Amino acid sequence: MSRNLKFISVVGARPNFMKVAPLHRAFRNIEGVRHLIVHTGQHYDENMSKVFFDDLELPKPDIYLGVGSGSHAEQTARIMIEFEKVLLKERPDLVIVVGDVNSTIACSLTAAKLQVPVAHVEAGLRSFDRTMPEELNRIVTDALSDFLFVTEEVGVENLIHEGLAEEKVFLVGDVMVDSLVTYCEKAKASRVKSALGVTPKAYTLVTLHRPSNVDDRLNLGKILEILERIEKYGTIIFPIHPRTRKRIEEFGLMDHFQTVKGLLLAEPLGYLDFMNLMMDARLVMTDSGGIQEETFFFNVPCLTLRDTTERPATVADGTNVLAGLDVERVAGLTAECYGGKWKSSRVPDILDGRAAERIAEVLLNAFGKKEAVMSGGNIKESDK
Ligand code: UD1
Repeated sequence: MSRNLKFISVVGARPNFMKVAPLHRAFRNIEGVRHLIVHTGQHYDENMSKVFFDDLELPKPDIYLGVGSGSHAEQTARIMIEFEKVLLKERPDLVIVVGDVNSTIACSLTAAKLQVPVAHVEAGLRSFDRTMPEELNRIVTDALSDFLFVTEEVGVENLIHEGLAEEKVFLVGDVMVDSLVTYCEKAKASRVKSALGVTPKAYTLVTLHRPSNVDDRLNLGKILEILERIEKYGTIIFPIHPRTRKRIEEFGLMDHFQTVKGLLLAEPLGYLDFMNLMMDARLVMTDSGGIQEETFFFNVPCLTLRDTTERPATVADGTNVLAGLDVERVAGLTAECYGGKWKSSRVPDILDGRAAERIAEVLLNAFGKKEAVMSGGNIKESDK
């Protein structure tokens, strides 16, 4: 048999864990591949990190860098310093990064400088808004990557438009949807709705954490106004991201938020509980990238409180509507949603829960393990 391969996947922040879990499951079944998980520690609170390892049945990270918070430069630099040590010691054949967080750019840059090949999962997404830190992370990571795994057609177009070589680009679908498919049944069994005292299709689920929305007092004020305008429709469940909680407290707005009728301010939820609430929500209001895709897949109405999206298919073919922080527009659209009027999703065939398998197949071929064959949904090596 050809020599063993060592792949390192990087996780750092909450939206990374559900993307790496299916990759880990795919590689776990391949003989001749050792798959290590490095956690940078960008997110470190129990409910932003550990709970996801439990829910997604991920093993404890092989290596934990513990970098924590800081300014963008501090966080990115600390990750690079620590990750370089890991690469020099482990000498992997490939580094896999996912999404667009600071850990993604930090580890891809470190690997590229040491001439370790990089695979970017969820490549090619663009909001065309360079005030978003994630947009800069996406552009740089894609430019440095040797394998660009794309979730939707427009991502391929974006990469080609930026001059990246077509042979590096693979349209494989979305690993985040792989996790939805794998854990959907388990999520349905969650008791979170009865714990919160809500019934299906009778509540709005809110998540907000983008710096542009929550770091600005004026914008947080508009969010408060939106919540006040929609309180008449019943319960609003708002699991608060640490950044958002910090800002609400700093701006002295917590008392005001607590006066909104029917607003349940919760701690960040685990993966299965959140999925359970999302699947049965009447409406989801968010500024997250991933949740736009998840509601698209589950055909749940989604109002995105941003002016741009990096996932245009969720708007063109799905339940997503971009509403910015326009209070009147959000109030009007919420009324339509509770009145039973909303568009439905046409989910493309490629969102079938098998993206990680396709990624594994491409990588095995590229690394000369061409004999790898698909068997029973798992990839096994036949050239032992
Ligand atoms: C990061 C990602 C964003 C992603 C989001 C999901 C970047 C640039 N941003 O944003 O793309 O959508 O995660 O959650 O990588 N904090 C805690 N506990 C934690 C984690 C963070 O208290 O476990 C606090 C930090 O102290 C910091 C703030 O939350 O002040 C923001 O954390 P940070 O990692 O900078 O970015 P996020 O806003 O979480």
